[in-house]
Amino acid sequence: QANERESMYLVSEFAQKHFKEMLWDTELGKAIGLSYFKERGFTDETIKKFELGYCLNQWDGFTVAALDKGYKLEYLEKTGLTIVKEDRDNPNTSRKFDRFKGRVMFPIHSLSGRVLGFGGRILTNDKKAAKYLNSPESDIYHKSKVLYGIYHAKQAIAKEDNCYLVEGYTDVIQFAQRGIQNVVSSSGTALTPEQIRLINRLTKNITVLFDGDAAGLRASLRGIDLILEQGMNVRVCTFPEGEDPDSFAKHNELEEVQAYLESNAKDFIQFKASLLVKEASNDPIKRADTVRDIVNSIAKIPDRIKKEIYIQECASIMNVSEAVLFNTLAQIDKKGE
Ligand code: CTP
Ligand code: MN
Ligand code: MN
Ligand code: MN
Ligand code: MN
Repeated sequence: QANERESMYLVSEFAQKHFKEMLWDTELGKAIGLSYFKERGFTDETIKKFELGYCLNQWDGFTVAALDKGYKLEYLEKTGLTIVKEDRDNPNTSRKFDRFKGRVMFPIHSLSGRVLGFGGRILTNDKKAAKYLNSPESDIYHKSKVLYGIYHAKQAIAKEDNCYLVEGYTDVIQFAQRGIQNVVSSSGTALTPEQIRLINRLTKNITVLFDGDAAGLRASLRGIDLILEQGMNVRVCTFPEGEDPDSFAKHNELEEVQAYLESNAKDFIQFKASLLVKEASNDPIKRADTVRDIVNSIAKIPDRIKKEIYIQECASIMNVSEAVLFNTLAQIDKKGE
């Protein structure tokens, strides 16, 4: 079992090196992959630091190279780097395909820097194909336990005593290049307790940065309760319509990005209370729902003094009495027991 995992790590490390070589040392890689990254504003130094790569647009170029080097098909398949399919025209024979054919590659590293898996981005604007393709779950890659960028960000997170949590790969990379290193991404998946624990060991402070596309903002608020449950402090910051941290950091200087974060990051509970109160307006039933919703979040906070301070603040933001909120809290606590 441990041997098997080690073999999967070795195959993944070979793949990272191979994709890097294709990006830097082949004509097609340079013309297609490298120029794509350059267009996104990534410098050579950044591309090397994050060990970005390119998988040539051939059916099995990577797979053949790996088999040539003696890596076993079993592990290529188990890591999902190679897809093996029954050949319909020739029964009992199979064909091998590179999963990431024609994509630029983002290796995903563990806290200690081992390659666990990959995200691969398509280069065309083909709406039928998934924009990003990711490694499948495997014995070495558990997406619920991984944060993209954690290996490069861990020191800065501890030093700054804060972690920026962004939505995507390129948000992490562009922020780091701009000079904000304490940034990781859950890469499009709902936040999990394990991911939060990874951060919790480095800092008690998280600032969640949302793409300015409103999609998923409401849904993401639920995941944030998980951060409160671990006794951490959460702030949130949204970006202007059509912008995400990547595009914002690409077009603004470090001082401007820092100033934006400084003036737009809000305490999560206050942010949520203001958002809910705007949406509920004067509808009494909706207002009752929003009161329960916000108190539900407050109920997750382990510290009793903090809880009380939030009750007071939210009463004023939502224009209800503290007594109503304290009663609701007592009901929720009782149910939870
Ligand atoms: N994602 C994914 N599969 C998709 C779309 C998104 O896995 N089909 C994940 C990726 O990790 C992506 C993140 O969700 O980075 C955020 O999605 P989105 O904001 O749509 O992508 P960006 O990171 O902004 O990608 P880009 O700037 O390259 O378009
Ligand atoms: Mn798993
Ligand atoms: Mn998005
Ligand atoms: Mn985005
Ligand atoms: Mn983007």
